[in-house]
Amino acid sequence: MKSITVRAPATIANLGPGFDIFALALEHPYIELTMRLTDKDSVAFKLDGCHEDIPGKPEENCAGLAVIEMMKRIQRKTGVLIEPHKTISVGAGLGSTGACAAASVFALNRLLGLDLKGNQMIEMASKGEIASGSVAHADNVAGAMLGGFVIVKSYNPIDVLRIDVPEVPIVIGVMKKKQRTTRTSIPKSMDLALVKEQLSLCSLVVHAIMKEDIEELGKAINNDYISEPVRSQSIPGYKGIKQKLLDSGAFGCNVSGGGLSIFAICEQDRKADVAETMKEALVQESIAGEIIITRASNDGIREITSE
Ligand code: HSE
Repeated sequence: MKSITVRAPATIANLGPGFDIFALALEHPYIELTMRLTDKDSVAFKLDGCHEDIPGKPEENCAGLAVIEMMKRIQRKTGVLIEPHKTISVGAGLGSTGACAAASVFALNRLLGLDLKGNQMIEMASKGEIASGSVAHADNVAGAMLGGFVIVKSYNPIDVLRIDVPEVPIVIGVMKKKQRTTRTSIPKSMDLALVKEQLSLCSLVVHAIMKEDIEELGKAINNDYISEPVRSQSIPGYKGIKQKLLDSGAFGCNVSGGGLSIFAICEQDRKADVAETMKEALVQESIAGEIIITRASNDGIREITSE
């Protein structure tokens, strides 16, 4: 095999209270990229077909950094050309960098016939996240790699649990953050009373997914004491938007991943209303945001074609 094209889903990391631990894969949007083996001794990018502002230097690009890290681990150097065709909004908290890093590690594993295990690939791909100004968090890459709902049950060593998801309708107001990352503003410690609340919410998320209870899931993701208080500050009128979404029938909503997109979970027949409310609320706040109606997906990365 000389080249492979793969698809990886967008993900909602944290899924409300599960900071760096939870992620949910989405049916769409998704990224697609082609990786080719070359006879050069370098990791290179072909970005002609890309509308997003993606760094071309491999060390500054999450996919590039993940592949460099992977080559160090497997102690093998090979030339590769990475060509993203379809992208997810960068800097919107929908896991675009994680999807590209995971897809690149997955593609190289196939091209070199390495047969690496899921946790090994997730660990390598998580290093790519450092290039987005962040630390090596594994939630987005795990969700993209495996699909469904993932729990990073250990960071040292990386160990991920995957649970199949039911049909979860999701409406997203896609917003990009101006700053590279908002992560550095998250406090390093937390009051014990809030830790207890956070633990309850996380437990409820897992229970709701296992019981396939969309209403309970919506309620569980509606609060968070780690990421939401920080990320929501960059969204004008966030509290008001959230209330409107709940009033229009959403069971819960929160900031997706590192922000600034807002996601809402609702019943199937409320999707159109919630989407309309999201659209109007963003317009009222003069926020230019695309509205996406999607759902949770059990599909992780998959091969589209190879030669
Ligand atoms: N868990 C990460 C964070 C996700 O909250 O920073 C980033 O998309």
